[in-house]
Amino acid sequence: MKKGFLLFALACFVASAQAQDINLLSPEKTGGKSFLETVNLRRSERSYVKKDLPAQQLSNLLWVANGFNRNDKRTAPTAMNRQEMELYVLLDDGVYFYDAKQHHLKSVAKGNFTEALGQPDISNHAALSIIMVADLNKSSVESARISSGYISQNIYLFAASEGLGTVARGSFKQDELSKTLGLTAKQAIILVQPVGFLQ
Ligand SMILES: Cc1cc2nc3c(=O)[nH]c(=O)nc-3n(C[C@H](O)[C@H](O)[C@H](O)COP(=O)(O)O)c2cc1C
Repeated sequence: MKKGFLLFALACFVASAQAQDINLLSPEKTGGKSFLETVNLRRSERSYVKKDLPAQQLSNLLWVANGFNRNDKRTAPTAMNRQEMELYVLLDDGVYFYDAKQHHLKSVAKGNFTEALGQPDISNHAALSIIMVADLNKSSVESARISSGYISQNIYLFAASEGLGTVARGSFKQDELSKTLGLTAKQAIILVQPVGFLQ
């Protein structure tokens, strides 16, 4: 009986250690470079120095990308406010779902899955990669491609304003990455976008 309880407690401990969510700080909604300066600096960068994003920068980045800036609407527009796009974040220790409403990163899988991103020259040195996933129950792939463009530009502008590097990536290992994220047949990865520190 005692041994059974100990095993149960150990199983609970292991399960909680494996599923470690990340509590994001509240996003900052003021600051950064001027809009015109930011647009002038917008570009694709593919060479990064490997370093983690500070917690506040991670929070701001995800909020800018596709967070809620009104009660039921987001920083990136979608046709008829369908909000078919959700973000996953690939960090060195695992992959996380960005719960935009709660502004929270929910652990999806533990481990290093960088290889599934493809383009290792870019992926291996990024601080993180944002994976844009469409819910095809809510919209078509065509519509999701348009929506992901807005999210991508939000990320580009955030990176430009912060002096970080980023690049939209249409080429990645769709099947391997979908499996890693545990996606269903009605979910599709549209774009991957690494963010990193410039060399
Ligand atoms: C939809 C889309 C997909 C892209 N896919 C890739 C990619 O797989 N790999 C890559 O290195 N760059 C990719 N790019 C970045 C483009 O090569 C880049 O935007 C273009 O060369 C213009 O450069 P700029 O962004 O600095 O203006 C992609 C851009 C877009 C918009």
